[in-house]
Amino acid sequence: MNKEAMREFMGRFMEMTTGAAVLGVVAVADRTGLFRELQGQGPLGLEAIAEQSGFDRRYLEEILATLSAAGIVVYTPEADTYELPEEHAACLADESSPYFLGGWSQMVPSLYGAIPGVARACREGGGVPFSDFGEEMVQGIARSNGPGTRLLLTRKWLPVMPDVVSRLESGIRVADVGCGAGAAALTMARAYPNSQIHGYDVDGSSLEHARRAAEEAGAGNASFERVDGQSIPSDPGFDLITTFDVIHDVVDPLAVLGQIRNALREGGCYLMVEPVAGDSLAENLHPAGALTYAMSTLHCMTQSLAHGGVGLGAAWGPRRAEQYCRDAGFSGFERLEVPNPFNAFYRVEA
Ligand SMILES: C[S@@+](CC[C@H](N)C(=O)[O-])C[C@H]1O[C@@H](n2cnc3c(N)ncnc32)[C@H](O)[C@@H]1O
Repeated sequence: MNKEAMREFMGRFMEMTTGAAVLGVVAVADRTGLFRELQGQGPLGLEAIAEQSGFDRRYLEEILATLSAAGIVVYTPEADTYELPEEHAACLADESSPYFLGGWSQMVPSLYGAIPGVARACREGGGVPFSDFGEEMVQGIARSNGPGTRLLLTRKWLPVMPDVVSRLESGIRVADVGCGAGAAALTMARAYPNSQIHGYDVDGSSLEHARRAAEEAGAGNASFERVDGQSIPSDPGFDLITTFDVIHDVVDPLAVLGQIRNALREGGCYLMVEPVAGDSLAENLHPAGALTYAMSTLHCMTQSLAHGGVGLGAAWGPRRAEQYCRDAGFSGFERLEVPNPFNAFYRVEA
Protein backbone atom coordinates (compact mmCIF):
# COMPACT_ATOMS: atom_id res chain seq x y z
CA MET A 1 0.00 0.00 0.00
CA ASN A 2 1.17 3.50 -0.82
CA LYS A 3 0.90 5.27 2.55
CA GLU A 4 1.44 8.68 0.96
CA ALA A 5 -1.58 8.13 -1.31
CA MET A 6 -3.61 6.96 1.69
CA ARG A 7 -2.69 10.06 3.71
CA GLU A 8 -3.59 12.29 0.77
CA PHE A 9 -6.96 10.52 0.50
CA MET A 10 -7.54 10.80 4.26
CA GLY A 11 -6.95 14.54 4.05
CA ARG A 12 -9.40 14.93 1.18
CA PHE A 13 -12.00 12.74 2.83
CA MET A 14 -11.77 14.68 6.09
CA GLU A 15 -12.18 17.94 4.13
CA MET A 16 -15.46 16.59 2.75
CA THR A 17 -16.52 15.46 6.21
CA THR A 18 -15.72 18.88 7.62
CA GLY A 19 -17.76 20.57 4.90
CA ALA A 20 -20.71 18.28 5.57
CA ALA A 21 -20.63 19.00 9.32
CA VAL A 22 -20.03 22.75 8.97
CA LEU A 23 -22.93 23.02 6.51
CA GLY A 24 -25.23 21.84 9.32
CA VAL A 25 -24.10 24.76 11.50
CA VAL A 26 -24.40 27.13 8.52
CA ALA A 27 -28.00 25.87 8.27
CA VAL A 28 -28.61 26.86 11.91
CA ALA A 29 -27.10 30.31 11.31
CA ASP A 30 -29.20 30.66 8.15
CA ARG A 31 -32.43 29.57 9.79
CA THR A 32 -31.96 31.77 12.86
CA GLY A 33 -31.05 34.86 10.84
CA LEU A 34 -27.56 35.09 12.36
CA PHE A 35 -25.94 35.97 9.03
CA ARG A 36 -28.36 38.88 8.61
CA GLU A 37 -27.57 40.03 12.16
CA LEU A 38 -23.86 40.13 11.29
CA GLN A 39 -24.26 41.65 7.82
CA GLY A 40 -22.75 45.14 7.52
CA GLN A 41 -21.90 45.34 11.22
CA GLY A 42 -18.12 45.22 11.04
CA PRO A 43 -16.22 43.49 13.85
CA LEU A 44 -18.35 42.82 16.95
CA GLY A 45 -17.71 41.17 20.30
CA LEU A 46 -19.69 38.17 21.48
CA GLU A 47 -21.71 40.17 24.01
CA ALA A 48 -22.73 42.75 21.44
CA ILE A 49 -23.86 40.02 18.99
CA ALA A 50 -25.73 38.19 21.77
CA GLU A 51 -27.51 41.36 22.80
CA GLN A 52 -28.39 42.32 19.26
CA SER A 53 -29.54 38.85 18.16
CA GLY A 54 -31.15 37.64 21.38
CA PHE A 55 -29.15 34.40 21.03
CA ASP A 56 -28.29 32.19 23.98
CA ARG A 57 -24.68 33.18 24.68
CA ARG A 58 -23.28 29.64 24.75
CA TYR A 59 -24.91 28.58 21.47
CA LEU A 60 -23.73 31.77 19.86
CA GLU A 61 -20.18 31.20 21.04
CA GLU A 62 -20.06 27.66 19.61
CA ILE A 63 -21.69 28.61 16.33
CA LEU A 64 -19.33 31.57 15.86
CA ALA A 65 -16.39 29.34 16.74
CA THR A 66 -17.46 26.87 14.02
CA LEU A 67 -17.96 29.62 11.47
CA SER A 68 -14.63 31.25 12.40
CA ALA A 69 -12.62 28.04 12.22
CA ALA A 70 -14.25 27.32 8.85
CA GLY A 71 -13.27 30.77 7.53
CA ILE A 72 -16.84 31.97 7.06
CA VAL A 73 -16.62 34.55 9.84
CA VAL A 74 -13.34 36.37 10.52
CA TYR A 75 -12.29 36.13 14.17
CA THR A 76 -9.63 38.56 15.42
CA PRO A 77 -8.08 37.11 18.60
CA GLU A 78 -6.42 40.40 19.71
CA ALA A 79 -9.75 42.23 19.73
CA ASP A 80 -11.90 39.14 20.41
CA THR A 81 -14.29 40.15 17.62
CA TYR A 82 -16.20 38.42 14.85
CA GLU A 83 -16.94 39.86 11.44
CA LEU A 84 -18.90 38.59 8.44
CA PRO A 85 -17.02 40.11 5.47
CA GLU A 86 -19.15 41.88 2.89
CA GLU A 87 -18.24 39.26 0.25
CA HIS A 88 -19.41 36.40 2.48
CA ALA A 89 -22.56 38.31 3.43
CA ALA A 90 -23.47 38.57 -0.27
CA CYS A 91 -23.44 34.75 -0.41
CA LEU A 92 -25.09 34.00 2.95
CA ALA A 93 -27.10 36.96 4.23
CA ASP A 94 -28.51 38.71 1.21
CA GLU A 95 -31.25 36.62 -0.36
CA SER A 96 -31.71 39.20 -3.11
CA SER A 97 -28.09 38.72 -4.24
CA PRO A 98 -27.57 36.52 -7.34
CA TYR A 99 -24.58 35.11 -5.42
CA PHE A 100 -26.79 33.93 -2.52
CA LEU A 101 -25.81 30.35 -1.59
CA GLY A 102 -27.70 30.00 1.70
CA GLY A 103 -30.37 27.81 0.07
CA TRP A 104 -27.78 25.03 -0.25
CA SER A 105 -27.54 24.87 3.54
CA GLN A 106 -31.24 24.07 3.64
CA MET A 107 -31.32 21.75 0.62
CA VAL A 108 -28.27 19.56 1.21
CA PRO A 109 -29.07 18.56 4.81
CA SER A 110 -32.60 17.65 3.67
CA LEU A 111 -31.04 15.12 1.26
CA TYR A 112 -29.71 13.19 4.24
CA GLY A 113 -33.24 12.22 5.27
CA ALA A 114 -33.40 10.10 2.11
CA ILE A 115 -30.40 7.94 3.05
CA PRO A 116 -32.39 5.04 4.64
CA GLY A 117 -34.87 4.94 1.75
CA VAL A 118 -32.17 5.08 -0.92
CA ALA A 119 -30.14 2.37 0.88
CA ARG A 120 -33.26 0.16 0.96
CA ALA A 121 -34.00 0.86 -2.69
CA CYS A 122 -30.46 -0.19 -3.70
CA ARG A 123 -31.49 -3.82 -3.11
CA GLU A 124 -35.27 -3.72 -3.27
CA GLY A 125 -35.77 -1.21 -6.10
CA GLY A 126 -38.12 1.77 -6.01
CA GLY A 127 -37.00 4.99 -4.41
CA VAL A 128 -37.87 7.97 -2.24
CA PRO A 129 -40.72 10.08 -3.68
CA PHE A 130 -40.49 13.88 -3.85
CA SER A 131 -43.25 14.24 -1.23
CA ASP A 132 -41.10 12.38 1.36
CA PHE A 133 -38.49 15.16 1.28
CA GLY A 134 -41.07 17.55 2.74
CA GLU A 135 -41.13 21.28 3.15
CA GLU A 136 -37.38 21.63 3.81
CA MET A 137 -36.61 20.40 0.30
CA VAL A 138 -39.31 22.55 -1.29
CA GLN A 139 -37.86 25.63 0.41
CA GLY A 140 -34.27 24.48 -0.21
CA ILE A 141 -34.89 24.20 -3.95
CA ALA A 142 -36.73 27.52 -4.05
CA ARG A 143 -33.97 29.27 -2.12
CA SER A 144 -31.08 27.75 -4.07
CA ASN A 145 -32.57 28.16 -7.57
CA GLY A 146 -34.66 31.28 -6.92
CA PRO A 147 -32.08 34.08 -6.42
CA GLY A 148 -30.21 33.39 -9.68
CA THR A 149 -33.45 32.91 -11.63
CA ARG A 150 -35.01 36.14 -10.31
CA LEU A 151 -31.96 38.19 -11.16
CA LEU A 152 -30.71 36.61 -14.38
CA LEU A 153 -33.72 35.17 -16.23
CA THR A 154 -34.85 38.40 -17.86
CA ARG A 155 -31.44 40.15 -17.81
CA LYS A 156 -29.12 37.43 -19.13
CA TRP A 157 -30.90 34.19 -20.00
CA LEU A 158 -33.90 35.14 -22.15
CA PRO A 159 -32.05 38.00 -23.94
CA VAL A 160 -29.97 35.40 -25.84
CA MET A 161 -33.26 34.79 -27.71
CA PRO A 162 -34.21 38.38 -28.78
CA ASP A 163 -37.12 37.13 -30.94
CA VAL A 164 -38.64 35.39 -27.89
CA VAL A 165 -38.17 38.49 -25.72
CA SER A 166 -39.94 40.71 -28.24
CA ARG A 167 -42.87 38.27 -28.38
CA LEU A 168 -42.98 38.15 -24.58
CA GLU A 169 -43.15 41.94 -24.57
CA SER A 170 -46.03 41.96 -27.08
CA GLY A 171 -47.94 39.34 -25.13
CA ILE A 172 -47.92 35.56 -25.54
CA ARG A 173 -49.05 32.42 -23.71
CA VAL A 174 -46.26 30.83 -21.68
CA ALA A 175 -46.13 27.59 -19.68
CA ASP A 176 -43.48 26.90 -17.06
CA VAL A 177 -43.60 23.16 -16.44
CA GLY A 178 -42.31 21.97 -13.04
CA CYS A 179 -42.58 25.57 -11.83
CA GLY A 180 -41.82 24.71 -8.19
CA ALA A 181 -42.29 27.74 -5.95
CA GLY A 182 -42.76 29.92 -9.03
CA ALA A 183 -39.55 32.00 -9.26
CA ALA A 184 -39.23 31.74 -13.05
CA ALA A 185 -42.94 32.11 -13.80
CA LEU A 186 -43.29 35.15 -11.54
CA THR A 187 -40.12 36.77 -12.87
CA MET A 188 -41.53 36.48 -16.40
CA ALA A 189 -44.98 37.64 -15.26
CA ARG A 190 -43.53 40.81 -13.74
CA ALA A 191 -41.20 41.58 -16.63
CA TYR A 192 -43.75 40.91 -19.38
CA PRO A 193 -47.16 42.11 -18.15
CA ASN A 194 -48.78 41.56 -21.57
CA SER A 195 -48.00 37.83 -21.45
CA GLN A 196 -49.97 35.17 -19.58
CA ILE A 197 -47.77 32.79 -17.59
CA HIS A 198 -49.12 29.39 -16.53
CA GLY A 199 -47.10 27.49 -13.94
CA TYR A 200 -47.65 23.74 -13.69
CA ASP A 201 -46.30 21.34 -11.10
CA VAL A 202 -47.26 18.07 -9.44
CA ASP A 203 -46.25 19.20 -5.94
CA GLY A 204 -49.00 20.87 -3.93
CA SER A 205 -46.71 22.51 -1.40
CA SER A 206 -44.53 24.14 -4.10
CA LEU A 207 -47.69 25.44 -5.78
CA GLU A 208 -48.93 26.97 -2.51
CA HIS A 209 -45.66 28.92 -2.25
CA ALA A 210 -46.02 30.02 -5.87
CA ARG A 211 -49.63 31.19 -5.42
CA ARG A 212 -48.77 33.12 -2.26
CA ALA A 213 -45.82 34.79 -3.99
CA ALA A 214 -48.06 35.70 -6.98
CA GLU A 215 -50.60 37.26 -4.64
CA GLU A 216 -47.93 39.22 -2.77
CA ALA A 217 -46.48 40.45 -6.07
CA GLY A 218 -49.93 41.29 -7.46
CA ALA A 219 -49.04 39.23 -10.53
CA GLY A 220 -52.51 38.84 -12.05
CA ASN A 221 -51.03 37.46 -15.28
CA ALA A 222 -49.57 34.38 -13.52
CA SER A 223 -51.54 31.31 -12.52
CA PHE A 224 -50.44 28.07 -10.91
CA GLU A 225 -52.13 24.70 -11.33
CA ARG A 226 -51.47 21.16 -10.25
CA VAL A 227 -50.97 19.50 -13.61
CA ASP A 228 -48.46 16.82 -14.59
CA GLY A 229 -46.14 17.82 -17.43
CA GLN A 230 -47.49 14.83 -19.35
CA SER A 231 -50.95 16.43 -19.36
CA ILE A 232 -50.45 20.16 -19.84
CA PRO A 233 -53.21 21.63 -22.02
CA SER A 234 -52.52 21.87 -25.73
CA ASP A 235 -55.62 23.77 -26.83
CA PRO A 236 -55.01 26.65 -26.91
CA GLY A 237 -51.31 25.98 -27.19
CA PHE A 238 -48.35 27.97 -25.88
CA ASP A 239 -45.89 30.23 -27.69
CA LEU A 240 -43.16 29.53 -25.15
CA ILE A 241 -42.74 26.59 -22.79
CA THR A 242 -39.96 26.48 -20.21
CA THR A 243 -38.59 23.91 -17.80
CA PHE A 244 -35.98 24.87 -15.23
CA ASP A 245 -34.17 21.95 -13.58
CA VAL A 246 -37.10 19.59 -14.17
CA ILE A 247 -36.74 17.06 -17.00
CA HIS A 248 -34.11 14.90 -15.27
CA ASP A 249 -36.46 14.61 -12.25
CA VAL A 250 -39.59 13.43 -14.00
CA VAL A 251 -40.91 9.89 -14.06
CA ASP A 252 -41.24 9.74 -17.85
CA PRO A 253 -39.10 12.41 -19.55
CA LEU A 254 -40.11 11.32 -23.07
CA ALA A 255 -43.81 11.63 -22.26
CA VAL A 256 -43.32 15.10 -20.74
CA LEU A 257 -41.16 16.27 -23.65
CA GLY A 258 -43.70 14.80 -26.10
CA GLN A 259 -46.55 16.72 -24.46
CA ILE A 260 -44.49 19.92 -24.40
CA ARG A 261 -44.05 19.52 -28.14
CA ASN A 262 -47.80 18.89 -28.62
CA ALA A 263 -48.64 21.94 -26.56
CA LEU A 264 -46.45 24.35 -28.54
CA ARG A 265 -48.21 26.57 -31.04
CA GLU A 266 -46.90 26.76 -34.60
CA GLY A 267 -43.61 28.70 -34.42
CA GLY A 268 -43.42 28.39 -30.64
CA CYS A 269 -40.30 27.34 -28.81
CA TYR A 270 -39.26 25.39 -25.77
CA LEU A 271 -36.49 26.55 -23.41
CA MET A 272 -35.04 23.60 -21.50
CA VAL A 273 -32.67 24.42 -18.64
CA GLU A 274 -30.81 21.51 -17.08
CA PRO A 275 -27.78 21.12 -14.80
CA VAL A 276 -24.43 21.62 -16.53
CA ALA A 277 -22.87 18.19 -17.10
CA GLY A 278 -20.97 16.20 -19.66
CA ASP A 279 -22.54 13.14 -21.28
CA SER A 280 -20.19 10.59 -19.75
CA LEU A 281 -18.78 9.91 -16.31
CA ALA A 282 -15.30 10.57 -17.72
CA GLU A 283 -16.36 14.16 -18.50
CA ASN A 284 -17.80 14.69 -15.01
CA LEU A 285 -14.84 13.66 -12.86
CA HIS A 286 -14.57 16.90 -10.88
CA PRO A 287 -16.14 18.40 -7.73
CA ALA A 288 -19.15 19.88 -9.59
CA GLY A 289 -19.75 16.43 -11.10
CA ALA A 290 -19.58 14.84 -7.64
CA LEU A 291 -22.17 17.32 -6.34
CA THR A 292 -24.50 16.66 -9.27
CA TYR A 293 -24.24 12.86 -8.96
CA ALA A 294 -24.71 13.02 -5.17
CA MET A 295 -27.82 15.18 -5.44
CA SER A 296 -29.07 12.90 -8.17
CA THR A 297 -28.58 9.74 -6.09
CA LEU A 298 -30.25 11.21 -3.01
CA HIS A 299 -33.00 13.19 -4.73
CA CYS A 300 -33.39 13.53 -8.51
CA MET A 301 -32.94 9.93 -9.62
CA THR A 302 -34.54 8.28 -6.61
CA GLN A 303 -37.75 10.34 -6.80
CA SER A 304 -38.21 9.25 -10.42
CA LEU A 305 -37.45 5.58 -9.65
CA ALA A 306 -39.87 5.79 -6.70
CA HIS A 307 -42.72 5.94 -9.24
CA GLY A 308 -41.28 3.33 -11.60
CA GLY A 309 -39.67 6.09 -13.70
CA VAL A 310 -36.55 5.98 -15.84
CA GLY A 311 -34.37 7.72 -13.23
CA LEU A 312 -32.53 9.76 -15.84
CA GLY A 313 -30.26 11.39 -13.26
CA ALA A 314 -29.15 15.01 -13.01
CA ALA A 315 -25.83 14.57 -14.85
CA TRP A 316 -27.14 14.01 -18.36
CA GLY A 317 -25.28 16.03 -20.90
CA PRO A 318 -26.14 17.84 -24.13
CA ARG A 319 -25.91 14.80 -26.44
CA ARG A 320 -28.45 12.82 -24.43
CA ALA A 321 -30.62 15.91 -23.98
CA GLU A 322 -30.68 16.37 -27.76
CA GLN A 323 -31.44 12.69 -28.34
CA TYR A 324 -34.35 12.79 -25.89
CA CYS A 325 -35.76 15.90 -27.56
CA ARG A 326 -35.48 14.34 -31.01
CA ASP A 327 -37.08 11.10 -29.76
CA ALA A 328 -39.93 13.22 -28.43
CA GLY A 329 -40.47 14.61 -31.94
CA PHE A 330 -38.58 17.91 -31.83
CA SER A 331 -36.42 18.74 -34.84
CA GLY A 332 -34.61 21.91 -33.72
CA PHE A 333 -32.10 21.72 -30.86
CA GLU A 334 -29.54 24.39 -30.04
CA ARG A 335 -27.36 24.92 -26.97
CA LEU A 336 -27.58 28.59 -26.10
CA GLU A 337 -24.52 30.67 -25.23
CA VAL A 338 -25.42 31.60 -21.68
CA PRO A 339 -22.40 31.76 -19.39
CA ASN A 340 -23.57 30.02 -16.22
CA PRO A 341 -21.69 27.63 -13.93
CA PHE A 342 -24.79 25.66 -12.88
CA ASN A 343 -27.13 25.45 -15.86
CA ALA A 344 -27.09 24.47 -19.52
CA PHE A 345 -29.65 26.24 -21.74
CA TYR A 346 -31.24 24.63 -24.80
CA ARG A 347 -33.59 26.16 -27.35
CA VAL A 348 -35.77 23.40 -28.73
CA GLU A 349 -38.21 23.69 -31.61
CA ALA A 350 -40.79 21.48 -33.25
C1 LIG B 1 -35.78 20.66 -8.95
S1 LIG B 1 -37.39 21.23 -8.92
C2 LIG B 1 -37.27 22.72 -9.88
C3 LIG B 1 -38.37 23.69 -9.56
C4 LIG B 1 -38.29 25.02 -10.31
N1 LIG B 1 -38.42 24.87 -11.72
C5 LIG B 1 -37.00 25.73 -9.96
O1 LIG B 1 -36.16 25.96 -10.83
O2 LIG B 1 -36.83 26.06 -8.79
C6 LIG B 1 -38.27 20.14 -10.00
C7 LIG B 1 -39.77 20.41 -9.98
O3 LIG B 1 -40.39 19.57 -10.97
C8 LIG B 1 -41.60 19.13 -10.46
N2 LIG B 1 -42.01 17.94 -11.23
C9 LIG B 1 -41.45 16.71 -11.21
N3 LIG B 1 -42.10 15.89 -12.06
C10 LIG B 1 -43.07 16.63 -12.65
C11 LIG B 1 -44.04 16.35 -13.64
N4 LIG B 1 -44.18 15.14 -14.19
N5 LIG B 1 -44.88 17.34 -14.03
C12 LIG B 1 -44.77 18.59 -13.48
N6 LIG B 1 -43.85 18.90 -12.53
C13 LIG B 1 -43.01 17.94 -12.13
C14 LIG B 1 -41.32 18.88 -8.98
O4 LIG B 1 -42.49 18.82 -8.22
C15 LIG B 1 -40.44 20.08 -8.66
O5 LIG B 1 -41.19 21.17 -8.22
